[in-house]
Amino acid sequence: MRVLVTGGAGYIGSHTVLQLLGAGHSVVIADDFSNAKPSVIGRLEELAGVSIPVHRVDLSDYPATAELIAAEQQGEGIDAVIHFAGFKAVGESVDKPLDYYRNNLDTTLSVLEAMRAGGVRTFVFSSSATVYGENPVCERTEDMPTSATNPYGWTKVMIEQILRDLAVADDSWRIGVLRYFNPVGAHPSGRIGEDPSGFPNNLMPFVTQVAVGRRQELSVFGDDYDTVDGTGVRDYIHVEDLAAGHIAALERLGQIDAPWSVWNLGTGSGVSVLQMVAAFAAASGREIPYRIAPRRPGDLAANWADPAKAHRELGWRATRTLDDMCADSWRWQSQNPDGYPD
Ligand code: UFG
Repeated sequence: MRVLVTGGAGYIGSHTVLQLLGAGHSVVIADDFSNAKPSVIGRLEELAGVSIPVHRVDLSDYPATAELIAAEQQGEGIDAVIHFAGFKAVGESVDKPLDYYRNNLDTTLSVLEAMRAGGVRTFVFSSSATVYGENPVCERTEDMPTSATNPYGWTKVMIEQILRDLAVADDSWRIGVLRYFNPVGAHPSGRIGEDPSGFPNNLMPFVTQVAVGRRQELSVFGDDYDTVDGTGVRDYIHVEDLAAGHIAALERLGQIDAPWSVWNLGTGSGVSVLQMVAAFAAASGREIPYRIAPRRPGDLAANWADPAKAHRELGWRATRTLDDMCADSWRWQSQNPDGYPD
């Protein structure tokens, strides 16, 4: 297949691009580089050994997006779109709700309308475990009701609804919604990985920045949750396993009758913050100084995926261990202490 990957220069997008190429697909990237460095493209080309067409485009600009897809359709064509592009910082979304609703909804609508105009009907969407909201059942299954606790999460819930409505209206679409748990890790080469701009919002990039000396200590947000050691429990998944889930979903969408499907992408196991710190220290040989801080508002005590549906329907399951996640995150961060070059 020839696949348009929006946000293909980002963390999950870049790893998925490499796996698509490795699986024999071709790739076109669309990215505005608002939260990714252009130097990632050279690294992808070096690792894949091919040149990758890149459109620098603001996907909320419908005429530009439609023109991009129309132009591709007149050339080699596009068979599917994997849509990663979007704003993703939970805390920032609380401060800037309009920016989040505007950007995440506009880009998705623009891409879908441009696909419709260009005759492309296969769409894979980056959703999130955040759509399970505050459900007290920690093990998340796809049939649970969706909800959210912040504007970022609501954009995911709303886009899922838009996609359901679209599938009802026109069953020629093949839409796969992937609900990610907590992506960590990096490509085993150490050449591509997660490079957050500014202060890291998530646990693993914070831990790796402490390990490399960019930050003094980790704040552990709360140690009085009802969990194994009182700290928050999440389902961390290696980004390489997550990327493989996209290829499995894309290939499956070509074989199924349903216009809309949803799959959790997680390991099925919960790991606490302190367990992660210990695993990272063991994998990296670096001590991670930390102090216990108050709970972060909006955080849940524990959640993890039930990944059975993805295994049953996609033949996919996560295979990388916690040690792989830590070792690969550390290789990336230690080889690129300041992230990608400008
Ligand atoms: N944590 C710390 N210190 C930090 C950062 C995080 O103790 O500096 C803790 C959190 O309190 C939580 C755990 O580490 O217990 C994981 O936190 P992350 O911020 O890495 O991940 P979240 O589970 O909060 O959020 C992630 C994604 C969101 C997504 C959500 C879905 O970042 O985009 O999962 O469940 F919405």
